[in-house]
Amino acid sequence: QNLKVLDSTVSTQEEARELAEAGAPEGTLVIAEEQTGGKGRMGRKWFSPKGKGISMSVVLRPKQPMHYMPQLTLLTGVAVCRAVRRVTGVMAGMKWPNDLLVDGRKISGILLESATEDEYVRYCIAGIGISANQDHEDYPEELKPIATSLKIEKGEKIDRIQLIAAIWEEFEALYALYQQEGFAPIASLWEALSVTLGKTVNVTIASGPVTGKAEKLDPSGALLVVTEDGRRVPVFSGDVEL
Ligand code: BTN
Repeated sequence: QNLKVLDSTVSTQEEARELAEAGAPEGTLVIAEEQTGGKGRMGRKWFSPKGKGISMSVVLRPKQPMHYMPQLTLLTGVAVCRAVRRVTGVMAGMKWPNDLLVDGRKISGILLESATEDEYVRYCIAGIGISANQDHEDYPEELKPIATSLKIEKGEKIDRIQLIAAIWEEFEALYALYQQEGFAPIASLWEALSVTLGKTVNVTIASGPVTGKAEKLDPSGALLVVTEDGRRVPVFSGDVEL
């Protein structure tokens, strides 16, 4: 297995992308102690002070069309959530599509990027960022009310190596399950870990804002939202407000 551990880099996503372009096999993993330009979803920044967070990116080569990629995002979230619960005992839950929350505060985010050719995926990079041993004062003012870390929640430092190993184990098992049985078992696991389902959510989709109750995942991984007038709207991407 290919593993690259870096002291500092702009973004493990970019490192992994370069390796993937150069032919790195599925499962190649890049981990960094510090990112100077970490990326979040929707053009946002992700930052994690040196030696405290977990920043990792995995190269995947699923032989699938592009529209399956949201399923891999959810799968990665389930792997991280299960590992966090098992190793730290912190009962994080999934906010659709792939934020990990503890009591409404974000503890981890996932960014899946893919390179495609004729609708097919050449490779994709699953990026995982976790607030592991950050202290409250490590967060900028604007994030203080909405972010937390495993250390803050558990009240003691967590073992990052052990957590990375557990994420890897969970991910491998879920990815194998996905390849054998498809998305249905992954969707059930995600639903069981969800903090989104059953709640009223606001989300903006291409046709405009939608408010409704988050019901379940549809077979593609989209979030089904039932509006007040009883329409069932599949949400494929975007930010959900709980
Ligand atoms: C989000 O919540 O918006 C996604 C955050 C993803 C952050 C991770 S950290 C490792 C990888 N490298 C990056 O630049 N981003 C992802």
